[in-house]
Amino acid sequence: MEFEKKILCIGAGYVGGPTMAMIAAKCPRYKVTVVDINPARIAAWNSDSLPIYEPGLDVLVQKTRGVNLFFSTAVEAGIRDADIIFVSVNTPTKTFGQGAGKAADLQFWEKTARQILAYSTADKIVVDKSTLPVRTAEAMERILNNNTKNVHFEVVSNPEFLAEGTAIADLENPDRVLIGSQETPTGLAARKAIVDIYSHWVRRDCILESNVWSAELSKLTANAFLAQRISSISPISALCEKTQADVVEVANAIGRDSRIGGKFLKAGVGFGGSCFKKDILNLVYICQSYGLTEVAEYWESVVKINGWQENRFIRTMLENMFNTVAGKRIALLGFAFKADTGDTRESPALVIARGLLEERAQVVITDPKALDNARQDLHAVKEDLSFEADPYCAAEGAHAVVLLTDWKLYQDLDYQRILRSMEHPAFLFDGRNLLDHKKLFELGFNVFAIGKAPLKHF
Ligand SMILES: NC(=O)c1ccc[n+]([C@@H]2O[C@H](COP(=O)([O-])OP(=O)(O)OC[C@H]3O[C@@H](n4cnc5c(N)ncnc54)[C@H](O)[C@@H]3O)[C@@H](O)[C@H]2O)c1
Repeated sequence: MEFEKKILCIGAGYVGGPTMAMIAAKCPRYKVTVVDINPARIAAWNSDSLPIYEPGLDVLVQKTRGVNLFFSTAVEAGIRDADIIFVSVNTPTKTFGQGAGKAADLQFWEKTARQILAYSTADKIVVDKSTLPVRTAEAMERILNNNTKNVHFEVVSNPEFLAEGTAIADLENPDRVLIGSQETPTGLAARKAIVDIYSHWVRRDCILESNVWSAELSKLTANAFLAQRISSISPISALCEKTQADVVEVANAIGRDSRIGGKFLKAGVGFGGSCFKKDILNLVYICQSYGLTEVAEYWESVVKINGWQENRFIRTMLENMFNTVAGKRIALLGFAFKADTGDTRESPALVIARGLLEERAQVVITDPKALDNARQDLHAVKEDLSFEADPYCAAEGAHAVVLLTDWKLYQDLDYQRILRSMEHPAFLFDGRNLLDHKKLFELGFNVFAIGKAPLKHF
C-alpha cells in the first residue's frame, strides 16, 4: 500500500512508543516509524515482551506493528524518509556544569536536531514532543535552518500530557492536545499538518492551538500545578496526624468545592515519576535565569515539601518501631512510582528503601511489574536487600509491611495470612491510604496511614 504520509518518531520510550502506536492505530494510511539509538529497546518493541508496561499497550502494538507501525534502529534512513519527525528523546535534569541539579540536559535533544539536519534531503516538519524549556524550539529552528542544503524545517511544539499507567486511555481520549507553532504562513501550515493527524480521532474543540512559547511553557506549568496539588495536601496530612483530623475526610470536603475539584488531592508518600520534579526544577531554573527569584522560590518549595514528606514517612516508621529497624526485615509492597506502570524513576519507594537501608534494615522489595527496574536502581547495594515476586514471601518473617504503590492487587491480599507469617508486634505502614485500616487493626496489625490517627495495640 502507498502510504499518504510518513511519520518518524525519534525516541522509543514511555512517550514515543505509546504515542506512535496510537497514531498508527488511528491513521492507518500513515506509515509510522519509531527509531532509537538503544538496540535493546528496539528489539523489545519488536518482541512479545514490550520494554514498558502500560495497560492496553500490547494490544495496540500487536494490531499495528508490521502493518503501519515499525520499530527500528535505522535513524538515518528514518529521517531521510519522513515528512514529519516527532522528537521524543529524554530531557533529564542536568547533572554537571552550569545549572546542574535544575536545568534540563539538552544534549540528547541537540544531538537529534543535528542528526535531522545531517540526514535530511527535503523540507520537513519537526515536532518537539519532549518536554523542553520555554524557547527551546527557537534553538531547534536555529540549528536546523542554519544550513546550506536549501532544506527548510518548520518546528512545532506538541507537548505530551499522557500520564503513565493510563497512557493509552489518555492518548485515545485526551483532555486536550496542544499544538504550538510560529504564526507565519509556513508555521501555520505546519501547525495544520499536525492538527490533521490528531483530527483523525480527537474532537476538534479538544485540539488547542497556540504560539510555540505558550505550548512549551504550558507543559512545564501543567506539571508544576499537578505536583503543587500533591505538595499542598502533604503538609495538611502532617497536620491531620497531629490533630486527629483525617486527611481523606478533609480532601473530600475541600474537593467538593467545584473551584478546587477532587483530583490529585490524595495524600501519600509523595509524588514520583520522571517528570514532575525535573520539570519543576527546570521551571525554577528558567525563572532564576530571568531574575524572577520569588517565582523560582515558590515553585522550588513544591519539590522541597515532597522530599520532606518522604523523609517524614521514614521518621514515622522509625519512631513507631522503637527507634530502630536495624536487622529487622521490612517488606515494601510496591516499588513503581504509581500503579499500572513498571516505571520507578523518582519513585518515593526508592528514597524510602535507601533510608531504611541506611538504618540497616533488611529490606525486601516486591512489585508486580517493577522488579527489574528496582534491581537496576539498587544494583550498587550489596547487603540487606532482596527481591521477591510473591508478596506473601516478601512479608514472611517481616516486622513491618510497607505499602508504597497503590496496586489494586495489594488491596486484595490475605492479610490474615500475612499477619500469621510476620514477627510481632506486626506493623503496617500504608503510604498510599489504600487499605482498610480498621479491618487490619482488628486483625491485629498496628496500622499507620498518612494523615490519620495511628491504630495501635500498645
Ligand atoms: N514519561 C512520561 O510520562 C512523560 C509524559 C509527558 C512528557 N514526557 C517527556 O517526553 C520526553 C521523553 O520521555 P520518556 O519518558 O519517553 O523518556 P525515555 O527515557 O523513556 O525515552 C527516551 C528515548 O530516547 C532515546 N534517545 C535519546 N537520544 C536519542 C537519539 N539521538 N536518537 C534516537 N533515540 C534517542 C533513548 O534511548 C530513549 O529510549 C521527555 O522530555 C519527558 O519529559 C514524558
